[in-house]
Amino acid sequence: MGLFTRDIHSMNDLFVHQLKDILYAERRIASTMPAMIDKASSMELKDCLRDHLEQTRTHIARLEQVFQMHGVALSTVKCPAIDGILDEADEISDEVDDKSVLDAAIASSAQAVEHYEITRYGTLIAWAKELGHPDCAALLHETLEEEKSADKKLSTISEERLTHMAA
Ligand SMILES: [Fe+2]
Ligand SMILES: [Fe+2]
Repeated sequence: MGLFTRDIHSMNDLFVHQLKDILYAERRIASTMPAMIDKASSMELKDCLRDHLEQTRTHIARLEQVFQMHGVALSTVKCPAIDGILDEADEISDEVDDKSVLDAAIASSAQAVEHYEITRYGTLIAWAKELGHPDCAALLHETLEEEKSADKKLSTISEERLTHMAA
């Protein structure tokens, strides 16, 4: 897709474009998470990120399945939004030396990623239903629930850290 071309003509084209975008995003998240896990200090945060890395690999597999079910060849388009979130996360974590502050930075970056995924999957599910693909919607919904639960776990970890610091 270029600046002077119009490649998206229908809701189906838009759906496929966003599928390619989220596949790019999930792959980039999966390749970035091991470094986040290494940098984290608290075991709770490390475990939460490790569990979600496993789930992220499943998200990629589910998306590959959705491409197949929708009859589209597997491919990606660059997602500048996730690149921006992950690049910023990397820059911030390089600036922090205190371990507890670094954990707070990592948890907040991870939540920004989850929120991006939640908004994308929410839209994809609505569009899959609109396009008459309840099977694709159901699969995408499984992923959405895991993104929401990862977000909740990260919130709990951050709240516990604050309570611990206040004590
Ligand atoms: Fe995901
Ligand atoms: Fe996620």
